Amino acid sequence: MRLLTDIIIAVDGYSSCGKSTLAKNLAHCLQYRHIDTGAMYRAVTYWCLENHFIKNNDIYTDAIVKRLNEIHIEFHFNALSQLNELWLNKKLLTNEIRTPIVSAYASQISQIPEVRQKMVQLQKQMGKNKRIVMDGRDIGTVVFPEAELKIFMTADPNIRAKRRLAELQEKGIDVTFDEVLKNIEERDYLDTHREISPLRKADDALVLDNSNMSKTEQLEWILKQIKKRFPYED
Ligand code: DC
Repeated sequence: MRLLTDIIIAVDGYSSCGKSTLAKNLAHCLQYRHIDTGAMYRAVTYWCLENHFIKNNDIYTDAIVKRLNEIHIEFHFNALSQLNELWLNKKLLTNEIRTPIVSAYASQISQIPEVRQKMVQLQKQMGKNKRIVMDGRDIGTVVFPEAELKIFMTADPNIRAKRRLAELQEKGIDVTFDEVLKNIEERDYLDTHREISPLRKADDALVLDNSNMSKTEQLEWILKQIKKRFPYED
């Protein structure tokens, strides 16, 4: 499908809702760029760990802020994998930013105002020419309040936990359903209660509750919303 007008699509929502998967599939359909902003905060967290700015549970915020200018994040599309891959200081990051330790610290690192400021600036730059699907927590509210289409994704925490448990078990990680559910509930609380840019639905966002929807159904739903609102060619 080809849109006859260039737009920005913001996808926000709770963790483990499948935001990145939907954003990636949608970008593929529209031949747009997909930017996973969670991966950017994860990359900064990875860099903090590599540089020992996180040690023994302490986060050295002053040192992080002082050296933020050393961080260079770029996305490059890999035609083979069809993924928009993240490069940090010329190094490709894939599984390194999905480890439990990076996940555990990412919510704290993403709360540092200077880190957010830098990421938001970069994200705005990436959307300068539109034709982008960006997913995260504050895309429709802070990064692109003027986005032409905003989606807010949610799903029953029990269903999210079930999906996440299956993913973790597939990777051979030994956890219980209750542990996964507790982690999801904690992350929801942190995301919605933090001081800067908390997760909230933009007033003009469309809500997608995908509790009982397959990936294909979600993509069909969003394409239907797009076709209703923007001129296109099949
Ligand atoms: O979506 P994710 O789990 O990969 O996100 C990693 C962390 O970054 C998570 O703690 C939420 C945070 N985040 C954020 O604060 N703002 C965004 N736009 C995207 C993610």
